[in-house]
Amino acid sequence: MKTIHLGLYGLGVVGGGVAHILHRNQELIQARLGAALKISRAVVRDPKKTRGLPLDGVKVTTDPNDILNDPEIDIVVELMGGTDLAAQVVLGALNAGKPVVTANKALLAVRAAEIFPKAYETGLPLGIEASVAGGVPVLRALREGLAADHIEEVCGIVNGTCNYILTKMTQEGAAFGPVLAEAQKLGYAEADPTFDVDGHDTAQKLAVLVNLAYGAMVHYPDIYKEGIRGITPLDIEYAKQLGYTIKLLAIGKRVGDKVEARVHPTLVAHNHLLSQVNGVFNAVYLTGDNVGASLSYGRGAGAEPTGSAVVSDIMDIARDLLAGVKSKVPPLGVKKDQLIRPAILPIEDISSEYYLRFQVLDRPGTLAKITSVLGSRGISIQSMFQPSQAEHPEDPVQVILITHQAKERDVAGSLKEIEPLDFVLGKTQLIRIERLGG
Ligand code: NAP
Ligand code: HSE
Repeated sequence: MKTIHLGLYGLGVVGGGVAHILHRNQELIQARLGAALKISRAVVRDPKKTRGLPLDGVKVTTDPNDILNDPEIDIVVELMGGTDLAAQVVLGALNAGKPVVTANKALLAVRAAEIFPKAYETGLPLGIEASVAGGVPVLRALREGLAADHIEEVCGIVNGTCNYILTKMTQEGAAFGPVLAEAQKLGYAEADPTFDVDGHDTAQKLAVLVNLAYGAMVHYPDIYKEGIRGITPLDIEYAKQLGYTIKLLAIGKRVGDKVEARVHPTLVAHNHLLSQVNGVFNAVYLTGDNVGASLSYGRGAGAEPTGSAVVSDIMDIARDLLAGVKSKVPPLGVKKDQLIRPAILPIEDISSEYYLRFQVLDRPGTLAKITSVLGSRGISIQSMFQPSQAEHPEDPVQVILITHQAKERDVAGSLKEIEPLDFVLGKTQLIRIERLGG
């Protein structure tokens, strides 16, 4: 039986998962592939580390060139993370004529303009399934399963840490800080949790989703990102009373020759499937013009779910190698000359419904003044909710307004006018509401 030789950069959480899967499921993989997959080399930072992995016969070294220069290596698998060395080895591998698999969403978002053109230029396969939603095969669904569809929107819960925190806050009334500490203890959050809770991880995954959905290469820094630090138990409770759940959503849409690509806490109706996605689970909801609504759901992180996606990419590429072909499916689903570089619509230009929570003194005329400012900019109110009355005239009360569709620019302009008013006690809480079909 033929053996396909793999060179792995990284034997951490995901690299370890890949090693275990290749070992434990080797018979199944051989039966499906008609060939064996073998990790021949691995490059790590510390080759002396005890890893508890099945690595018999694997040459473990520290020099990145050891894999690139080894003619025996058929497929390069990048599982280190980061964007510098990772870009160097991915570009180096493609230049050396070796197909690549990577789980690295940061690399694919931040260095998209180098990585994807190189994959196109060389015609070599680039497996990226594990970079978004871990073990959930959503990228393959977008690129292949939905190849005949125009994607109208793609909305994802793609950061397990944030979803875990928001779920705990919703189900147990817990506050943000202690639940984040718990998520870190459980190993869900990245080493630096700002990457998760400030929306960067979600935005990088959104860049990959949007690029695949639209055959595009968006400029990653233009994606609007807002994390979940500002969400309070009060907002979770009021949203609940109004029939919504708060989720950190990655939202992508095509708008003429531009795209919307934004990440922010979002009110999702209780009866929508996305509001039922709890804990560390991920889900990507999308609508295609033929298929309608579709939801992919599962484990978005962890050694074995992510390793499962990496190994499936390796098997896909191995099939091409065994058949003696380069790659049937272009990296971003479209031919090179059809790739687009659409601008991302600035957040001020989007339209949405809004949850606005004002902290005000409970005085006559307060509400009239707020609604008159909003009305002067054409913002219409859908509903109003004042959860409690003040016991003393100087106590703040919360007033929540839900708007009809409005332009973000108009809402922001109104808040600039409202916040300096003498009865307003602090910054307004603004959370966008997403009306999802299906
Ligand atoms: P990790 O546990 O920190 O492992 C990183 C591995 O890369 C380690 O084996 C490390 O070597 C090696 N490494 C790091 N820098 C290196 C360098 N400069 N030279 C050589 N080796 C180096 O990371 P991970 O969680 O497996 O994540 C790997 C990738 O998968 C990242 O791109 C991440 O975003 C992505 N991903 C992770 C998950 C997840 O659940 N963890 C899910 C989806 C995608 P040592 O072991 O010697 O330190
Ligand atoms: N920290 C990420 C998460 C890991 O919480 O989803 C997977 O990319």
